[in-house]
Amino acid sequence: NKVTVSVIKADVGGLCGHTLAPDELLETCEGVLEEAVDEIILDYYVTRCGDDIDLIMTHRLGCDNEKVHGLAWKAFEEATKVAKELKLYGAGQDLLSDSFSGNVRGMGPGCAEMEFVERKSEPIVVFCCDKTDPTAFNYPLFKMFADPFNTAGLVFDPSMISGFRFEVHDVVGHKKVFLETPEEMYMLLALIGDYEKYAIKRIYRRKDNEIAAVVSTEKLNYIAGEYVGKDDPVAIVRAQSGFPAVGEVLEPFANPHFVPGWMRGSHWGPLMPVGEEDATPTRFDGPARIIALGFQICDGMLIGPNDLFADKGFDKAREKALEMADIIRRMGPFQPHRLPATMMEYTTVPKVLEALKDRFVPLEGLELIEEGGVKREDRRDVE
Ligand code: 13P
Ligand code: 13P
Ligand code: MG
Ligand code: MG
Ligand code: MG
Repeated sequence: NKVTVSVIKADVGGLCGHTLAPDELLETCEGVLEEAVDEIILDYYVTRCGDDIDLIMTHRLGCDNEKVHGLAWKAFEEATKVAKELKLYGAGQDLLSDSFSGNVRGMGPGCAEMEFVERKSEPIVVFCCDKTDPTAFNYPLFKMFADPFNTAGLVFDPSMISGFRFEVHDVVGHKKVFLETPEEMYMLLALIGDYEKYAIKRIYRRKDNEIAAVVSTEKLNYIAGEYVGKDDPVAIVRAQSGFPAVGEVLEPFANPHFVPGWMRGSHWGPLMPVGEEDATPTRFDGPARIIALGFQICDGMLIGPNDLFADKGFDKAREKALEMADIIRRMGPFQPHRLPATMMEYTTVPKVLEALKDRFVPLEGLELIEEGGVKREDRRDVE
């Protein structure tokens, strides 16, 4: 008997600015989901990371089910009504359409779903982020599923020794490719180290093609050639017996990495692992946060959560993230704090260029360099 875990998220308003989805919004979502228990879903848990609301649901209807997606959409619509009444900031921010048309994909909310046969014991970890985008998972998922220095199970668990298959999306070209580790590890890194273009969408265990991980990548997309912004992402990872142990799933976050996002979705900054209570980004609207909720699935019900990053074992990671934040903040509007132009969510640079267009004049003396100067290739030959 298969169970589906669906994590659907949206930002429908912040208190204040982009900092927090208040309790009123979470309670509204809970009210909508509660009514659907036994009708559509088996169980649910509603949480938040910053200004993003995360609906964690279990059911028997499979991925991309219209009823489940419609339910999430309804919860976000009801919460948007409350957000508008309270004049919260960015009320309805992630509901890009006025009406629901069968699937939340492409309509604003982010979505990570997986269907599987429940094991004798089924531990899962649900990650929810704010102030970053889906590529924030490229680095930690690589470590979890392909780095034996992170995941001892890759070496010691016979079910993992044959490795994992990574489904990588080219979010610019709207294409996907499957790469298998360990053999194709370097080619995988060649792609996923590039956050402008490639995001890990799913990971499968090669031994039996079991689904191991899935990430929401919805809005990290170009619609009609235009970058439409970041999607504060969510992910689901299965753990133990043939998958990385819970501690191996969490270990990549013990040494914080830099992710795109933060202020105005336009800066590099550290991803700070925190407990639910501390998923409240405010400094320069950040730094970006990630929470990790551990559940045991029991006959389709969600037992838990265990608020995994609340553990003191991650105190030092938080300290390090804050040090990294101080260091990179010093750069202000200069790279490498500022994202490259193609990755910025908000930018006035095109307007600045427009305003200055008549004031740009040709560089003098360039002809001399072009005619008489030593060309790059020639110089290399000389060396
Ligand atoms: P316990 O001995 O606490 O059950 O832990 C076993 C284990 O595999 C930890 O990763
Ligand atoms: P969100 O993506 O969390 O709404 O943040 C946007 C922003 O501009 C933060 O400064
Ligand atoms: Mg917001
Ligand atoms: Mg957000
Ligand atoms: Mg965002």
